[in-house]
Amino acid sequence: MIILGIETSCDETAVSVVRSEKNKIEVLSNAVSSQVELHAKWGGVVPNLAAREHLKNMLPVLEEALNDAGITKDDVDLISVTEGPGLIPALLVGTNFSKTLSYLWKKPLLGIHHIEGHIYANFANNTEIEFPVLALVVSGGHTQLVLMKDHLEYEVIGQTQDDAVGEAFDKVARILDLGYPGGPIISAQAQKFKESPDSQLSNHNSRITLPRPMLNSPDFNFSFSGLKTAVLYAVKELKEKNSKKEFENLIPEISHEFQQACIDVLIKKTMKAAKKHNPKTILIAGGVSANRELKLQLKDATEKELANTKFESPEFEYSLDNAAMIAIAGCFRWEKMNDSERQKCEKNWKNLQASSSLKMNKIH
Ligand code: KG4
Ligand code: ZN
Repeated sequence: MIILGIETSCDETAVSVVRSEKNKIEVLSNAVSSQVELHAKWGGVVPNLAAREHLKNMLPVLEEALNDAGITKDDVDLISVTEGPGLIPALLVGTNFSKTLSYLWKKPLLGIHHIEGHIYANFANNTEIEFPVLALVVSGGHTQLVLMKDHLEYEVIGQTQDDAVGEAFDKVARILDLGYPGGPIISAQAQKFKESPDSQLSNHNSRITLPRPMLNSPDFNFSFSGLKTAVLYAVKELKEKNSKKEFENLIPEISHEFQQACIDVLIKKTMKAAKKHNPKTILIAGGVSANRELKLQLKDATEKELANTKFESPEFEYSLDNAAMIAIAGCFRWEKMNDSERQKCEKNWKNLQASSSLKMNKIH
């Protein structure tokens, strides 16, 4: 079966072709047109600009995905599109484009939850993942611990009470005047500190110490807004006490301490949830799963603390927003559907609605 995935929930226009065959999922193409540079000027994603870019890029990206996969429209069996959550102007482009294709090409259409897609990015070229799964979802809009007893069954057992962790990375980068998106920039700065002679010294005096919010709370929830505010105050103080040059030299250390504060709470809560629910697999999903240090430390903690649990993470190209993950989730949904549910998908060119606050678990 050949699935065409389409994703436009934020600032990437993405189209992918995925082939599923007897327990094997193969990504044939994964075309992404990023708008990062455009939005960087504004310090964040501007929804109407994103929609305009999606409109411009949708057809060329579709053509690229079909060409890279070496298929034509006739080979497509199912179209799978991000239905929500996300920015409405951006989602409308992808959903309406997909509805048009579904109508013209006479192919069934399936709406997918963006976070479900991120979770299923782990299944790209890898179907060996065993259930129950505990998914740590870390993106620009979500920070959640999701327990999955089986495919497509989600129970959110913990989540952020305020900012998402990716959002905190973006805001801290703004406080430090480093640009957008913050995640990759902060993690590069943190790495610079880690590799510096300073950090290697056993008697290194930390010049910044940040809180680990909710580290010891009895639940599986998170909070990142206070951490961001703590960075704001610490930066203000450091700027007063140091020259401009001296302050600039402190940025790698501030980034490292902030990143480590995030990692400490994410790992502690994930381990705590795993000890209660005994998953066979812990996986990480969402844009922040591109963070190398988070992946390394979570893998390490899983191996040290949980004898019967495996750690999985998506390959880098499927960590950030992409359409392969949407096609893969669509493939698992289709598998689970009965004939009448599948028939309904043939009318989705009429019925599918983009939703900015879509809930997981809805089957179409
Ligand atoms: O999943 P994603 O691409 O979009 C949403 O669904 O929100 O996630 C984007 C978020 C941004 O906040 C970005 O700063 C963060 O992921 N991010 C990272 C890294 N790469 C992207 N955060 C930390 N470390 C990274 N290397
Ligand atoms: Zn995302």
